[in-house]
Amino acid sequence: AAIEFGLDAPFDVEYHDSIGSTNERARELASEGREDVAVVADEQTAGRGRLDRGWTGPAGGIYSSLLLRPDVPPAHAPVYTLAAAVAVTRAAREVGIDASIKWPNDVLVGQSGERGGKKLCGILTEMEGEADRVAWLIVGIGINANVHAEVLPEGATSLQEERGEPVDRRVFTQRLLETFDELRADPDSILDAWREHAATLGQRVRVDTPGGEVVGEAVDVEFPGALIVETDDGERERVTAGDCEHLRP
Ligand code: BTN
Repeated sequence: AAIEFGLDAPFDVEYHDSIGSTNERARELASEGREDVAVVADEQTAGRGRLDRGWTGPAGGIYSSLLLRPDVPPAHAPVYTLAAAVAVTRAAREVGIDASIKWPNDVLVGQSGERGGKKLCGILTEMEGEADRVAWLIVGIGINANVHAEVLPEGATSLQEERGEPVDRRVFTQRLLETFDELRADPDSILDAWREHAATLGQRVRVDTPGGEVVGEAVDVEFPGALIVETDDGERERVTAGDCEHLRP
């Protein structure tokens, strides 16, 4: 499959023209004991998003799931999701797109410009943990690549839409996998890379967390991916999960 897709990647690439969900396929591969596989598809018919949402998967996208078995405790897993967001953002910038990351891992275009931060990519990470280490981790990356905006949900955009011409999906995927591989080899570099590509830091945000709403200025990100929010009464809140919205100052 790697040869079919023509990639010289640091993962075994299993390419599908059309599939239900690359995350589902990666789970099957996990149960077969595989690791370092990238399942990549052009179209997804039953894509899954965060918070039990679906994910629209028209043909021309880059839908991929990376199956990893890092030798780390389950609590470290979120940092791999941040690494994937950095890898997508970097690859998008290389093809001339002003992409940046909304905490924790949405890739947006034009975060504060007149186009108001449209979503280019979403990431869904799934994990199975043993007591003290990760058994497997699947990082599912959905990129709206060569897709017309009309077939995407409201508030979404695509690489093709932003550039006015399609991208080479092979080259884009290759760059994404290479950057991800570099970052995972040096996990300490991931947070700095994330900060460098973040749209959220310095913004006034509202985060809808399982413990309630947190409003304030996003001032930093801490390992393995917590957002530090300085609230109006001067407290530093450490937010580990939730939906984040950038507010106008
Ligand atoms: C989100 O809700 O923002 C996350 C969307 C994740 C979608 C990707 S597409 C590739 C992989 N396979 C899936 O079924 N979902 C993820």
